[in-house]
Amino acid sequence: MKLKNKVALITGAAVGIGRATAIVFAEQGAKLVLIDVNGKKLDALKKELEVYTKEVLTVVCDVTDEALVQSTVQQAEEAFGSVDILVNNAGLWRCSSLFTDTPTDDWKRFLDVNIMGPVYFTKAALPHMLSRGWGRIINVASVAGVYGNAKMTHYSATKGALIAMTKALAKEVSKNGITVNSVSPGSVSPSENPDIDYTEESQLSFAGRTGSGRENAELIAFLASEAAGYISGQNIQIDGCRKKQ
Ligand SMILES: NC(=O)c1ccc[n+]([C@@H]2O[C@H](COP(=O)([O-])OP(=O)(O)OC[C@H]3O[C@@H](n4cnc5c(N)ncnc54)[C@H](O)[C@@H]3O)[C@@H](O)[C@H]2O)c1
Repeated sequence: MKLKNKVALITGAAVGIGRATAIVFAEQGAKLVLIDVNGKKLDALKKELEVYTKEVLTVVCDVTDEALVQSTVQQAEEAFGSVDILVNNAGLWRCSSLFTDTPTDDWKRFLDVNIMGPVYFTKAALPHMLSRGWGRIINVASVAGVYGNAKMTHYSATKGALIAMTKALAKEVSKNGITVNSVSPGSVSPSENPDIDYTEESQLSFAGRTGSGRENAELIAFLASEAAGYISGQNIQIDGCRKKQ
């Protein structure tokens, strides 16, 4: 029970890595604040988590709505007294277009969700972490932000920026008992698959397979734990030894 009594807020929790992280955090004793735009799937997950805990608050919230983000974090503080762990996982990634074919509106949408979402949640949660002298911020980036993926220029740019934000913020707050790290998944098993241990063949990694939701969630849970208190400002790739595209 490495996260016993810790309060963790996870964005984009309805499916995929976010859902797997909610399950692993619940197994490890955390109280949960689960955020998504998909209320139906959040409700289903809350029911699923009842075997571990009933201390789950679900909030339908679009991460691009700063006022709503502020009130969501306030709601979480009122329900559980704190937000100790923030996992900025919600993100847009499905896209395939050459830079020359990518409309400006797509750039703005990806920047809004993938960058401003984490910025708003961090702005809302960080002051409370600073006042308590303990906190964990984990940003879910991507190998696209490290290597750059063709036909995903705007996506790659947002994840590269998220990694840089992680490193810069860590330098400001690590002396206050707060660690800030990012994880960069490679290919992850389909996020709609409810089996968080599921993997399938992939030519994109030397491991020859995708990473499971649980593998990603276990890394996030470790970074959220007491044991990872001396790890900060890092981007940790979880990609089965990626073949760099
Ligand atoms: N799946 C992969 O192969 C992969 C690889 C590298 C990085 N990632 C990153 O992992 C994260 C999760 O991806 P995934 O594939 O597990 O899930 P996904 O993309 O299938 O789902 C993301 C979740 O975020 C929610 N969401 C989207 N926009 C939102 C918004 N504006 N406000 C609130 N919630 C919103 C969705 O409703 C959904 O439940 C993303 O940040 C993604 O970029 C995924």
